[in-house]
Amino acid sequence: MGRRSKSKKIPKNRPSSRPRTQSLSGIKPRIDARYACFKLRVGRSSIHRLGVFADEPIPAHRKVIEYTGERISSREAVKRFAKMGSAKSKYLTYLFELNRYWVIDGAAGGCGAEFINHSCNPNLRQRVFKGHIVLMSGRRIKRGEELAYDYKFDKDAQRVPCACGSRNCRGTINIEKKEDWIYWSGRRPS
Ligand SMILES: C[S@@+](CC[C@H](N)C(=O)[O-])C[C@H]1O[C@@H](n2cnc3c(N)ncnc32)[C@H](O)[C@@H]1O
Ligand SMILES: [Zn+2]
Repeated sequence: MGRRSKSKKIPKNRPSSRPRTQSLSGIKPRIDARYACFKLRVGRSSIHRLGVFADEPIPAHRKVIEYTGERISSREAVKRFAKMGSAKSKYLTYLFELNRYWVIDGAAGGCGAEFINHSCNPNLRQRVFKGHIVLMSGRRIKRGEELAYDYKFDKDAQRVPCACGSRNCRGTINIEKKEDWIYWSGRRPS
């Protein structure tokens, strides 16, 4: 995956899998309250299709929700990513890289966090604690605000145009330089 897979690159921190939307799966996207620390809801987003919104104010530096799903190997993630062939779902990805060996596929057993979109000016930060991906508030978040974090897709992965609309939008959800990418555990890539 990413640096190690030359032929089938998947985004560094979120590869891909079967899209899970109301229309495609028949499952109504929702937040599983067991994994959320605040009232959140899935709704229409101005950034991309569905997104996740705060239904109550969230203070800064608090755990907001865990990114859950099936834990799969990086090799399996590459296979799932390769299956995403249709033009409609070309850029859609629900995989989140836990570390260089493991990936969480939010399309299978996701708690709703997989609907959180990317922003170049995010209000969430991602952290890994004891093998769990946790999304924390980077600042105070108002009720009704859409939640977003910086996906930091691999610079060498498929370049995805960004529609976050923020003033400092870098135009892509990929990172520009390798140095911009840091493992969530805090280690820099070698
Ligand atoms: C995990 S999904 C996010 C939920 C998605 N909006 C949905 O309705 O299923 C991630 C995908 O959403 C799209 N996406 C998220 N944020 C985006 C952004 N700022 N600009 C463009 N596409 C975005 C990309 O296709 C990305 O692969
Ligand atoms: Zn942007």
